[in-house]
Amino acid sequence: MTDPHPARTGIILVAAGRGERLGAELPKALVHLAARTLIDHALSTIVSLPWSGDLVVVAPEAWRGAIHHQAHQTHGFASVTDGWRITVVAGGVERHESVRLGLAAMGDDIDTVLVHDAARPLTPDTVFTEVRDAVHRHRCGVVPALPVADTLKSVAADGTIEHTIDRGSLIAVQTPQGFPRALLERAHAEPEQRAPHSPVPVTDDAELVQRVGGVVRTVPGSMRAHKVTTPDDLKLLEALAVSTGSGTKASA
Ligand code: C5P
Repeated sequence: MTDPHPARTGIILVAAGRGERLGAELPKALVHLAARTLIDHALSTIVSLPWSGDLVVVAPEAWRGAIHHQAHQTHGFASVTDGWRITVVAGGVERHESVRLGLAAMGDDIDTVLVHDAARPLTPDTVFTEVRDAVHRHRCGVVPALPVADTLKSVAADGTIEHTIDRGSLIAVQTPQGFPRALLERAHAEPEQRAPHSPVPVTDDAELVQRVGGVVRTVPGSMRAHKVTTPDDLKLLEALAVSTGSGTKASA
């Protein structure tokens, strides 16, 4: 099928986190879920998308070679597979540094960039495509989001509840988050200087983009895009992968 979008899209797969809350010896991206590593799940989904572009995998410095090797073995790529131009670069201390390093490795012809957490291994391919299409349609930032189901409370340092937060206008955002490349580059140019006194920590790209005045819209997210943070998240996603019969194929 002919790609209706002449502009090329790049994906930055951030996998350089240590995953301390998971308590594993390996970096989180190399932890197993349903017989495959988290990064392998994500790579498989990306290389089978019905479109292609640049894929920059951001890995922990010490594991860069291993991740390159794993990707090489699993998907049989050297630099190009099924139209994907794949590079593996070393990440930074903070997530936003890893994204910035990934951005720097994108080819000049890429004008739309999706940033995806390797820690969301079962994110469906449809979410990637919806985010990309919405960025092309609206030329602004796009994030997948789900309504918040639980009652939310503000809590003091000693654990006492202060008050209930109206969840009516609240959403939980996921990845992949997509942006026009120029906007994402502007947002990452000097992230620390953008809002030095902001009480909100930078945990996603949409926050940085909004700090430089960028507009960010939402598309429907997915339960399957749940992020692995603790061992319980792994069990939850393992059950999801098994119950839907997906993601259980062991790598070669
Ligand atoms: O730590 P957290 O779970 O929020 O990380 C989200 C994603 O960002 C993970 O896929 C992780 O590997 C990545 N990350 C990174 N570089 C860092 C920190 C996190 O690539 N320095």
